Order: sequence, then structure tokens, then C-alpha cells
Amino acid sequence: MLFPITYRVNSRGHMEVGGCDLVDLAGKHGTPLYVYDEDTVRQRAAEYVSAMGGAGEVLYSAKAFASPAFLRIVADEGLGLDVVSAGELHLALKSGFPAERIYFLGNNKSAAELELAARSGCTIVIDGSYEFELLDRVVPQGRRVRAELRISPGIKPDTHDFISTGQLDSKFGFSIENGQARTAIEQALAHPRIDLVGLHSHIGSQIFDLRAHAAAMEVMLDFVAELKRDLDFEPGVLGAGGGLGIAYTRADDPPTPRAFVENLRGALEAGSARRGIRPPRLVVEPGRSIAGPAGVTLYTVGSIKDIPGVRRYVAVDGGMGDNIRPKLYGARYEVLKAAEPEAPATVRVTIAGKYCESTDILISDANLPPVSSGDILCVPATGAYCLAMASNYNGIPRPEVVLVKDGSSRVIRRRETLDDLLLAEVF
Ligand SMILES: Cc1ncc(COP(=O)(O)O)c(C=O)c1O
Repeated sequence: MLFPITYRVNSRGHMEVGGCDLVDLAGKHGTPLYVYDEDTVRQRAAEYVSAMGGAGEVLYSAKAFASPAFLRIVADEGLGLDVVSAGELHLALKSGFPAERIYFLGNNKSAAELELAARSGCTIVIDGSYEFELLDRVVPQGRRVRAELRISPGIKPDTHDFISTGQLDSKFGFSIENGQARTAIEQALAHPRIDLVGLHSHIGSQIFDLRAHAAAMEVMLDFVAELKRDLDFEPGVLGAGGGLGIAYTRADDPPTPRAFVENLRGALEAGSARRGIRPPRLVVEPGRSIAGPAGVTLYTVGSIKDIPGVRRYVAVDGGMGDNIRPKLYGARYEVLKAAEPEAPATVRVTIAGKYCESTDILISDANLPPVSSGDILCVPATGAYCLAMASNYNGIPRPEVVLVKDGSSRVIRRRETLDDLLLAEVF
């Protein structure tokens, strides 16, 4: 699924999402423009929830993309939320997200962040022993916070090294392999401010091969059985993280959210029965696979530079400031001409951004119909980790975000202005 579920080519031959013509949207809102399809967000979220049934909870991982309107849709579909900073928590609370459905993660939470999380009533996912000291300081006497421990199961999935997080050599979590996880559980159980409700894990992101999650589940269940046997502690909750990959190009064929959850449920239920333990409630926290396919980015073509015999650079009005993923992870994207998505792609071009870095290339060697300055280009599958990682590098304001549904578009984040860029400056 490269496009949002409502994508079609309309009677004018233009790309259309959520009943809105993308060329018209670019004209109305300007570019670069992030366009989110509400139906896709709801469908992806609902698929996770229905696959989970009563066996556990689905959290949305706010780091993929968060805005008040988006978080309200996610909450409305019955999901909880995973946040990793005071900033994400603040946004969620201001958006009206119920605090009791929020989990606070992060490998180096500050005392102030832990204090805010504890005061708000979130579940805290403890990532390192330093947090035991901090919780002692920030949680008032006589109170306990609901907490889980992030465990590193030692599984390395088939993804980019930069986004795999469950192996031994990782900054995240307590390793089972070297005994740190066991020690941390004993510390947490003895801690006067902690009500330990479960374990958490996350092995990486953009994963297509679900066997890695099933293997991690086996390791986690061995650990659960050990804790029951040795400490008489039975975690009520087992978090398996997020990480389901999405299609960025036509060649990608990721599993569905349903397959992702069913794989984990199968491993959890069968593995618990085999070990004679009560199956903990399963928690998953997808980000990319909910926000990613729902979003497309529109750009306007500006300068075109031909280097005969070498390449043709087609420069757009955005780039690494609104989508750092090609440079950060070597991510590949497709690009289409919004007015002619089905015209024969006869020209090979390189889509360059407008930032002053020679590495600011969005897509190398893309095939497009002939393009001219002023044409609108559409890059699909940009709903996750694009605006979330966007910057104001080169003094360029971040793009507007619109939500489309049933033929109407609504601005859910306005385009930044030049004055916004100066808000924190001291003159
Ligand atoms: C702990 C944790 N949970 C969930 C996620 C969401 O992953 P994804 O967007 O790949 O589903 C991440 C992503 O980095 C993560 O670090």
C-alpha cells in the first residue's frame, strides 16, 4: 500500500486523496504541503485494534507524527499513546488525550520529565537504573507510579542498523543476556515508589520479516517464566513495541497490521501455554504503519539543471528540512507528477531539495514524465518521521499540514511564518 486508501486518479487525470484534487490543494495551501488522509489513519488504527481483540492494547507512537487533530483521531479509534519527552506529553495532554492511556518512554528522562509523567498519571517505561534514583526523588512519599521495565531481548531484525534497538549493544533497555534485566526487576519490585505492572520491548523499526518479533517474544516469555519461578512475579503486561514496516516504493510489500498483531498474539498465547504461565496482556505501539501511508507531500518544481550525459536535477521547494529520511537512513521514495500520475515515465531525473547541502537530494534517479518549473510533484508515504523530524535549517519555515476527508481539506497545522522563526530569539 503505497498510497492512502482513498487515492484515485480523478476525471481530470489528477491525483486525488480524500476526495481532494492534489493539484488544487497545492494551489490552495501552497507547497511544500503535507496532506493526511483521515480515512487511512482510521482504517490502519482500527485494523490494529480489531486484530488485538480483547487480548491487550494498541498505543500510537507519537514520535512518528503528532498534532492535536491527529491525536484526537487516534484516541477516538480507541488507541493509547506512547510519548518520549515532556514536549510530546505536553502536546498530548493539551490535545485532551486521556493521561491514563499514555505511556512515557525514553532512555534518558530528566527528573522534570519523570515528575510531569508521574503527576499526570501516565505509565512510566523505565529504561535504565538511573531512573530508580530519580523516581525516589520526584514521586511524593506514599505514592507509587505505574511502571514497566524496558527489556532488551537481544534480537536484531532485518532492518537498517540505525533503527534496530533490541540487540545487546544498544543504548535502550536492560539486557536479559548480561543479567541487567533480572537485577533491574528485583530493584523495581523492592522500590517504594514503583508499582511494576509489566515488561516492555521494542526491537526496531521498518521491519518486514515478522519472525524477528516472534523470536523476541520467545525470549521475553522465557524471562517471564524465570521471574515467576524465581521471584513469584508475573508481569500483567508485555509490550512488544512497534516497528511494522510500510511500503515506500512500489517494490515494497510489507505485512499488514493484522498480520503483525496476529503473529505476536500467536507467539504469546502458544508460548505462554507451553511454559505454563498466564499470558500477559499484549501491548503494541506502532507509529510509522499508522501515520506513514496516510501522508503524502506535495512540492512545486523550481529550477531544473541539465548536466548533459550526467543527470538532470529537478529542484523542489522543500527537501532535507521537511524530509531528512533519505539522508538519515538512505530511505528511497517514489515521486509522481500530481497532474499526470499515469503518463509514461520517460525521463530520468534526480529530485533535489533547496537546502544548501550537496547531500540534499530527496530521490536519485527517479523516472517521471517530462516536468517543467511550476509542476506539482507528489511523494507518497511521507506521513511518518517527516514533519516529526523537520527542522528550520537554512531559515526555512516548516510546511503546512492539511487533513482531507470526503472532498474537504482542513488545515491542522498552519504554515510557519518568517516571524515564527524568530520566536525564541533575543533581540
Ligand atoms: C520504543 C519505541 N516504540 C515504538 C516505536 C515506533 O516504531 P514504528 O514507528 O516503527 O512503529 C519506536 C520507534 O522508534 C520506538 O523506539
